[in-house]
Amino acid sequence: MDYDIKDINLREKGKNRMAWAEQEMPVLRAIKKRFKKEKPLAGLRISACLHVTSETANLMDTLKVGGAELVICASNPLSTQDDIAATLVADYQISTYAIKGEDNKQYYKHLDAALAHNPIITMDDGADLVSMIHSSKKKFAVIGGTEETTTGVIRLRSMAEKGVLKFPVISVNDADTKYLFDNRYGTGQSTIDGIMRATNRLIAGSVFVVAGYGWCGRGVARRSAGLGASVVVTEIDPVKAIEAVMDGFRVLPMEEAASFGDFFVTLTGNTKVLRKEHFDQMKDGSIVCNSGHFNVEIDIPALEKISKQKRTVREFVDEYTLSDGRRINLLGEGRLINLASAEGHPAAVMDMSFANQALSAEYIAKEAANLENKVYPVPKIIDASIARLKLQAIGIEIDQLTNEQVKYLASWDMGT
Ligand code: NAI
Repeated sequence: MDYDIKDINLREKGKNRMAWAEQEMPVLRAIKKRFKKEKPLAGLRISACLHVTSETANLMDTLKVGGAELVICASNPLSTQDDIAATLVADYQISTYAIKGEDNKQYYKHLDAALAHNPIITMDDGADLVSMIHSSKKKFAVIGGTEETTTGVIRLRSMAEKGVLKFPVISVNDADTKYLFDNRYGTGQSTIDGIMRATNRLIAGSVFVVAGYGWCGRGVARRSAGLGASVVVTEIDPVKAIEAVMDGFRVLPMEEAASFGDFFVTLTGNTKVLRKEHFDQMKDGSIVCNSGHFNVEIDIPALEKISKQKRTVREFVDEYTLSDGRRINLLGEGRLINLASAEGHPAAVMDMSFANQALSAEYIAKEAANLENKVYPVPKIIDASIARLKLQAIGIEIDQLTNEQVKYLASWDMGT
């Protein structure tokens, strides 16, 4: 078995952390139990490009138990948990290509290694595997893929619209049981966790600027407010901006917020959201970071250009000193801060995200022949079944429609 990881001796720590996460993943556990009996992925080669975390390791285990022949590589150079990579290799015999802090060259070498597995199904977080397959001269036998995150889905939709997508992809991100919980509560909590671990700065009483009031931004805004920050939201979408106002946040252009923010977090999926004109106005000691998928939301080259000095002052904190002496602190090299300096989303939300991944892989295995080269949502029936399993697992019961209510909701002439 081939692999490229930091240190296999970290396996025990990884195994313990994986088991800790599994305790909070009852839906995935139930799927694993069924997969063990039914082997729906028997003999299918899957290449996964995901953040190598304790929750992902539980997904890998589930897919393997379901019969898949698996390899995994990192979907971000800073998100790998090296102990988890070690247990995947040593205890689960899953080829893993992921080292925390790998440079770009090694990152792409790892993607290449995952593709050398000649996948039948791809499992992406950010669409890097799919994009490499489409730009490669090699022929692949992929029947379908899954996509974990908003940015990946945007890339795939653009490929489908241009008619270049060569196989169907299931947009796991757009399942209700994914984005409503993972993006909002998962990114909300873990982004704050990442900022606190990297800086140990007090959030209460600070001005916290959140760029982007999408599912992730809503979570971060709400949680930073909960810690006592005064929150400013920046947006480009008028509807989201009104929502932020009515949720009780101050909405301003970044141009104005830049001069008085203490913390800046970007979660837009867009590029150069924080740039030179904003750095020019920031206070001495400002903290800037990103929790969107790619490290392009903060214009780091522009920051480097206007800085006379850069030094690492703490782990995950680079201090840039500008020519007038002001210091701007960039966290985690502008990469997903929740995975760079913290551990990513809590297992309880990844339980539902990865249940969607496992069931979408099974769906592709069964249905690929009937799908076109498009981006498909997770079938509603799968999404709803995950919600039901989650409720069951946490011991919550809900009401059921009476026959009369079913009839009433289906009618158009029963207004009185
Ligand atoms: P979304 O589409 O729900 O929200 C993005 C928001 O950013 C939209 O409201 C959009 O109008 C706004 N926006 C775009 N350009 C902007 C600009 N220049 N200034 C201010 N606002 C702007 O997307 P979602 O689901 O919130 O995801 C955001 C990013 O986070 C994506 O890159 C996604 O892949 C990533 N993500 C990261 C996670 C993590 O673990 N850190 C987890 C899930 C998603």
